[in-house]
Amino acid sequence: MTTLFEPFQLKSLNLRNRIVMAPMTRSFSPNGIPTADVATYYAKRAAGEVGLILSEGTVIDRVASSNDPNVPHFYGEQALAGWQKVIRDVHANGGSMGPQIWHMGVMDNHHSGWLPAEPFEGPSGSGRPGFTNGKAMTEQDIANTILAFGKAAADAKRLGFDCVEIHGAHGYLIDQFFWEETNDRTDAYGGKTLAERSRFAIDVIKEVRKQVGEDFTIILRLSQWKPSSYTSSLAKTPEEMEAWLNPLADAGVDVFHCSQRRFWEPEFNGSDLNFAGWAKKITGKATITVGSVGLSGEFLAAFNGESSQPSSLEELMRRLDRGDFDLVGVGRALLADPNWAEKIRDGRTVELKGFSRDALSQLV
Ligand SMILES: Cc1cc2nc3c(=O)[nH]c(=O)nc-3n(C[C@H](O)[C@H](O)[C@H](O)COP(=O)(O)O)c2cc1C
Repeated sequence: MTTLFEPFQLKSLNLRNRIVMAPMTRSFSPNGIPTADVATYYAKRAAGEVGLILSEGTVIDRVASSNDPNVPHFYGEQALAGWQKVIRDVHANGGSMGPQIWHMGVMDNHHSGWLPAEPFEGPSGSGRPGFTNGKAMTEQDIANTILAFGKAAADAKRLGFDCVEIHGAHGYLIDQFFWEETNDRTDAYGGKTLAERSRFAIDVIKEVRKQVGEDFTIILRLSQWKPSSYTSSLAKTPEEMEAWLNPLADAGVDVFHCSQRRFWEPEFNGSDLNFAGWAKKITGKATITVGSVGLSGEFLAAFNGESSQPSSLEELMRRLDRGDFDLVGVGRALLADPNWAEKIRDGRTVELKGFSRDALSQLV
C-alpha cells in the first residue's frame, strides 16, 4: 500500500495520501443549507485519514440548478456560512477538501413533488432520449450559468477550500451538452462532433480559471456512461478522446476525475488502461480513478438494494504502482465507514465494513 499513502502536491493541493472521498449526494441540507451534522460528517473523514474530500454535489446560483430541496447550495449567505464551517472543521482535523460544483440540467421531478420556481434547463429540453422536462437554454441563460459556475469557484477559494471540482459527468448539465442525444443545438454550443459540443464545458472551465487564478487546483469530473445508458460512450476511440480532453486541459483543468462504475474495466480494446489511465496518457494531467474500489459490487446496483462486501485492493495497487493514475476515489466504502482510510493504512482488514443501502438513511 506504500504508493497509496504517498503525499501528493499540485498547485493549491497538498495531500497526505492518494485517497479521495468521491462526491456523494446525501440530501441532508434542508433548503440547501449544510447543517452542523454535515460538517461533522466530513470532519470525521478528515480525522479518518482521507487525503482529499470532495463534497457532495452542491448547486450553483441558478433557479433551476437542482431538483432536490435538500441538496446543498453553493450560493447565498446561509449556505456559504454552512460551508465555511465544513472547511474549518475539515482543516482542523488535518484534511483537505474541495466542493463539487453542480448544475443538474434537465431532471426528473423530485419524488416529494418539490419543484424549482422555473423550469429545468439544458441544451435542449431533454434530459435523456425520449424524456423532455424543461426548456432549451437561451444564449443569455448559458452566459449567466457560466458566470454562476465562476462565482461558486471564487467563493470556494474565498472560504478557504483547497480546490474545486466541476461536475461534468453522469448525465447532468455539462454532460447534457457533451451528449449528442441531449444536445441538438445549432448555435456555437452544439455541433456534430464531441469537440464542438464541448464548448460549454470549455467556457465554464475558462471562467472558473479566471475567477480562481492560476495556482488554485481545478478538477473536472467526467464519465463516458450515463445513468440512463451504461453502455454509452462519448469518446468511442482514443482519437476522439484526445479531441475531447486536450481542449478541456488547455482551458484550465489540472486534474481529470474519471468516473467509472468499475475501475478495472478497460476503456478501449487492445489495452487494459482504464478511463483515468487514458486521460493521463493523452493529456499528461493528473487523474483520479474511481469505481468499486474496495467493494465487491458497483454503486448503481447498490441503490437497488444489492449489498457489497469488502474486496482486495491488489488490482488497484497494480495500476497505481504502474503510474496509470495519481489519486484514487472511494465512494461507498467511505460513506459507510469514516475510518476506512486509516484501516487500510494500518492493515486492519478484518475491521472493514461492506456497504448496504441502509447506510444512506443517515449521516454517520
Ligand atoms: C449515495 C451516492 C451519491 C452520489 N452522488 C454523487 C454526486 O453528487 N456527484 C457525483 O459526481 N457522483 C456521485 N456519486 C457517485 C460517486 O461519486 C462514485 O463515483 C460512485 O459511488 C462509485 O464509487 P464507489 O464504487 O466507491 O461507491 C454518488 C454515489 C453514491 C453512492
